[in-house]
Amino acid sequence: MVEVKLVGLSLLWLWSWWSLEGVEGDPQLFLLKWDCSGFIAPNLSNFNKNLNASFADLRDQLSNQRKHFATAQATAGTDPVYAMFQCRNYLSDTDCAACLSAAVTKIRNCSAGANGARVVYDGCFLRYESNDFFDQIFSRSSILCGNQTADGSTDFGAVGEQVLIDLRIGTPKIRGYFAATKTKVAGGAIYAFAQCAETLSQDTCLDCLSVEQSSIQGCLPSTEGRAFDPGCFMRYSETPFFADNQTIDISPFLKQGGGGGGGSSKKWIIIGGCVGGALLVVILISLFPWHKRSQSPKRVPTNNVLGASELKGATKFKYSELKAATRNFSEKNILGEGGFGAVYKGTMKNGKVVAVKKLFSGNSSEIDDNFESEVTLVSNVHHRNLVRLLGCCSKGQEKILVYEYMANNSLDKFLFGNRKGSLNWKQRYEIVLGTARGLAYLHEEFYVSIIHRDIKSGNVLLDGQLQPKISDFGLVKLLPGDQSHLRTKVAGTLGYTAPEYVLHGQLSKKADTYSYGIVVLEIVSGQRCTDVKSVDGSHEYLLRRAWDLYEKGMELELVDKSLGPNSYDIEELKKVIGIALLCTQPSAGMRPAMSEVVVLLSSNDFLEDMRPSMPIFIESNGRPPRDISASTASSVSNASASNSIVPAR
Ligand SMILES: *[C@@H]1O[C@H](CO)[C@@H](O)[C@H](O)[C@H]1NC(C)=O
Ligand SMILES: *[C@@H]1O[C@H](CO)[C@@H](O)[C@H](O)[C@H]1NC(C)=O
Ligand SMILES: *[C@@H]1O[C@H](CO)[C@@H](O)[C@H](O)[C@H]1NC(C)=O
Ligand SMILES: *[C@@H]1O[C@H](CO)[C@@H](O)[C@H](O)[C@H]1NC(C)=O
Ligand SMILES: *[C@@H]1O[C@H](CO)[C@@H](O)[C@H](O)[C@H]1NC(C)=O
Repeated sequence: MVEVKLVGLSLLWLWSWWSLEGVEGDPQLFLLKWDCSGFIAPNLSNFNKNLNASFADLRDQLSNQRKHFATAQATAGTDPVYAMFQCRNYLSDTDCAACLSAAVTKIRNCSAGANGARVVYDGCFLRYESNDFFDQIFSRSSILCGNQTADGSTDFGAVGEQVLIDLRIGTPKIRGYFAATKTKVAGGAIYAFAQCAETLSQDTCLDCLSVEQSSIQGCLPSTEGRAFDPGCFMRYSETPFFADNQTIDISPFLKQGGGGGGGSSKKWIIIGGCVGGALLVVILISLFPWHKRSQSPKRVPTNNVLGASELKGATKFKYSELKAATRNFSEKNILGEGGFGAVYKGTMKNGKVVAVKKLFSGNSSEIDDNFESEVTLVSNVHHRNLVRLLGCCSKGQEKILVYEYMANNSLDKFLFGNRKGSLNWKQRYEIVLGTARGLAYLHEEFYVSIIHRDIKSGNVLLDGQLQPKISDFGLVKLLPGDQSHLRTKVAGTLGYTAPEYVLHGQLSKKADTYSYGIVVLEIVSGQRCTDVKSVDGSHEYLLRRAWDLYEKGMELELVDKSLGPNSYDIEELKKVIGIALLCTQPSAGMRPAMSEVVVLLSSNDFLEDMRPSMPIFIESNGRPPRDISASTASSVSNASASNSIVPAR
């Protein structure tokens, strides 16, 4: 072995005189992808500060620690930025820094405040997001194939295929997750390179490369190909794109369990590198005429891979990963059970806590068809008052959604549950306002209008700072058919549902406005909308009681007794109750849009002349009907699957 090493070294030294032009001193700025999010961060100055801080941090790590991979995060304020940068390992420090500079310039060319973006060059990639994506992959690769077929295409194709398979298997086992190889083929060689983001687990790196490998395979026997997503990168070419002394012998990593350990794998890289280098030199010398011919790099056609900023694909989680995170979906980890299915608390391998929602598994091909598109849509919704969908998992019939975890569970726990009475007025007001903002975003600001259909205090979650985040939006099509039919135990959610929707199946954004009004009354009163309170010997439901008190100018009677009499601003409270009653008016047309609600809440003078009209009480005592006639039921379920008509928790 020592002998081989020596021969290798001397040949390497020889080879260095022959170094390929255009490899050193080339940051490889051929642009493969540039995507900007269409969503703008809410606070531009805060966002820019965080973005600049992250980029500065990345630059610092590159120049001071000579890293080729770095992550940075600046999370002050409402607009956190998470950034990741990676150079191909064969680039020199100088080229790596140059690639970063180019990527930063390019990524800043997204519209100001775009809350996520990525740039992929041949030489490096840069990405930032408003959420932590460091351990995630897209599993939806971009592919770019050359337009020329290699000479001796059969041989090239067969060898190429094996090279790519080896890279897929070997790369995840190599420290730093990168490998560059050069393999002889008739009339030339195949240079190939694979790399994963270093924050991925070995398994995830393998997953990512498996997708890329199956994509890039389709390029063969073209002379070159690239396949990549933000988690990993794969490229091959008959033209060299890295210096030969960068190649390693990956064969030790292809053996079962081989090269897994850190120390021994390092040794293998060194030895492998030398042996590989020696072999390659011999190969190259024999191929010299060919080498000269293919010196000038070919331009690669851009096909349709570039440009077009699409919706980002949802992150795919592995079933085994989620199973481990929730301890095999243990009952102890159940956070709650909603119309869609059980929600579990999960702790990922990296310590990140998430909420894992197992959807009722239905036997419907409609769900399969809709799952991807719905999940993609919803995972692109970013607003501080909306719960983030982090990704999904689909295993046979089983459909699972992964959400950000909300430390304080749901609002109903604070109003009627075990934490009853623990919210002060200021906190309640913030929840009233934040919930309105979240809904306004869904209705009017996201690029398609999303009607929630099931606004209730159980669907308003609270984060660590007791800021509200609305959950369960946009997934109506995922609900299996049998869940959309009326159940007998309907009253709980029915109390929130607009009368025209319950009775006639007429659905509009104003149905959400109505439900929002009911939630606001619950926040003010601490009374569940379906609970009865005795008033002067008669029993009244919340809405009826609120209206009666309002009519008598006694609306402060409605206020939760756990709020001390001097703990709130009386005018503010009256305004909030007035707005809630505007929202629950019988005519959908007269209810304010959610953006108007936000304006009303934020303005100091609540207009005296905005008198709400009397709400409809479905029965004279305000009691929601116990059961609804068959004709009504069918009209409701015909109004497309509606998760507002599912049993309450
Ligand atoms: C690889 O070779 C180039 C010259 O071709 C040299 O500049 C560089 O330092 C070498 N790298 C290593 C890791 O030996
Ligand atoms: C935006 O963020 C800055 C902190 O960077 C803060 O001072 C400012 O009040 C915020 N503006 C708004 C409108 O929230
Ligand atoms: C961020 O950096 C850009 C470019 O260097 C600069 O124009 C901008 O003023 C900086 N913004 C903040 C908030 O520091
Ligand atoms: C930035 O965008 C402008 C207009 O969209 C374009 O003209 C310019 O070439 C872009 N610059 C870079 C570096 O992409
Ligand atoms: C391949 O693509 C290059 C660059 O787009 C182009 O100039 C060349 O004509 C193409 N060759 C073939 C055979 O299509």
